[in-house]
Amino acid sequence: MVFKVCIAETGECFSGDPARSVLESMCQLGRRGIPKGCCGGACGVCKVEVLAGSYDVKPMSRCHVSAADQAAGCVLACRIFPRSDLELRVLGVMRSALLGQASTQ
Ligand code: FES
Repeated sequence: MVFKVCIAETGECFSGDPARSVLESMCQLGRRGIPKGCCGGACGVCKVEVLAGSYDVKPMSRCHVSAADQAAGCVLACRIFPRSDLELRVLGVMRSALLGQASTQ
């Protein structure tokens, strides 16, 4: 089963394969919206807030996601695997650049 992953600010949506991280699914489909960095949970550029939906999560750098962040739904897109449709909001350091890009399209 494949789930629908949508980015709230841009309206960008793509198919989320539960066997792949949300970031990996986005990149494999040639889609954009979440900044891509190390893809290993270490750099923090893919930080998002999950507004709706459920997911599994692999270990993430506590430098970028505290336990409190994680409990509030703030996670790294390269370390989460969808278990339902998801709605996300980009939080990482590239957020303002992405939103500026989205507003010019
Ligand atoms: S891409 Fe580096 S933490 Fe996700």
